[in-house]
Amino acid sequence: MKVRKAVIPAAGFGTRFLPVTKAMAKEMLPIVDKPTVQFIVEEALASGIEEVLVITGKGKRSIEDHFDSNFELEECLRKKGKNELLQLVEETTKINLHFVRQSHPLGLGDAVLQARAFVGDEPFVVMLGDDLMTDTTPLTKQLMDNYQKTHASTIAVMKVPRNEVSSYGVIKPDGKVDDRLYNVASFVEKPKPEDAPSDLAIIGRYLLTPEIFKVLQHQKPGAGDEVQLTDAIDELNKTQRVFAYEFRGKRYDVGDKFGFLKTSIEYGLGHKEVQGNLKNYIVKLGKELEAGKVK
Ligand code: UTP
Repeated sequence: MKVRKAVIPAAGFGTRFLPVTKAMAKEMLPIVDKPTVQFIVEEALASGIEEVLVITGKGKRSIEDHFDSNFELEECLRKKGKNELLQLVEETTKINLHFVRQSHPLGLGDAVLQARAFVGDEPFVVMLGDDLMTDTTPLTKQLMDNYQKTHASTIAVMKVPRNEVSSYGVIKPDGKVDDRLYNVASFVEKPKPEDAPSDLAIIGRYLLTPEIFKVLQHQKPGAGDEVQLTDAIDELNKTQRVFAYEFRGKRYDVGDKFGFLKTSIEYGLGHKEVQGNLKNYIVKLGKELEAGKVK
């Protein structure tokens, strides 16, 4: 069966970005001029996904507004002849998005459970906004292509430094199927570095079969007292095969403050409007730092 649907959970509190996330959706934080959630939606469309569901919650209306039309703004830009800006604004409204609310952010597993009616009996992808990936082929498309061969749930993983594993779900591999595909003995959420079964961490792209919902429905809270998607995947792996797929492109962690700054700078260096000034500024700042003029 073809994978057609994507789910983007965006109902979390975003505590790592407080206080800005007190009244603003983390997913709307901009990388130069584009909200992070738009990068995710664009990856879905570039991968051939046809329908996207965003899981929202309290304080997340701006995500819906971002993808809705803004008649007054469009008219204003049209009258002033600002056609390039008008095109940018109109592009965001052409995407067919669905929204559903998670009334209490009980954890990622509970957020995904809210997608049950939308997904129905089809395989689907879950895409987290904290991770932006770049590669010649979008990671979601790589997972979808792989599914055509395996017809099984497949979770994207990537090697991370050992001392960082406790921030992730980690796999215990059980042999390789091919160069990038692993059989998995177990999936462990946020292990201590000394207990971690590997340095292969789950990054924010999952291809899941609809059987995950039967597991999620009964899933008890795990690490951090949250209903963990990783725990449900570990349970699913006991009744049907779940593979891990190693991503080898570049990953930007925008859910973390330093990662967010790095992403903004690197994206800015590729942005035609600001790249020249930004490059000059970085070179000048580097010299000033070396000379001890900036602390
Ligand atoms: P995170 O744990 O990274 O997001 O969940 P968070 O809770 O918003 O952020 P921090 O850790 O407190 O800073 C990964 C994704 O799952 C969503 C989040 O919005 C984020 O995109 N999520 C998490 C939900 O939709 N519902 C939840 O109950 C928890």
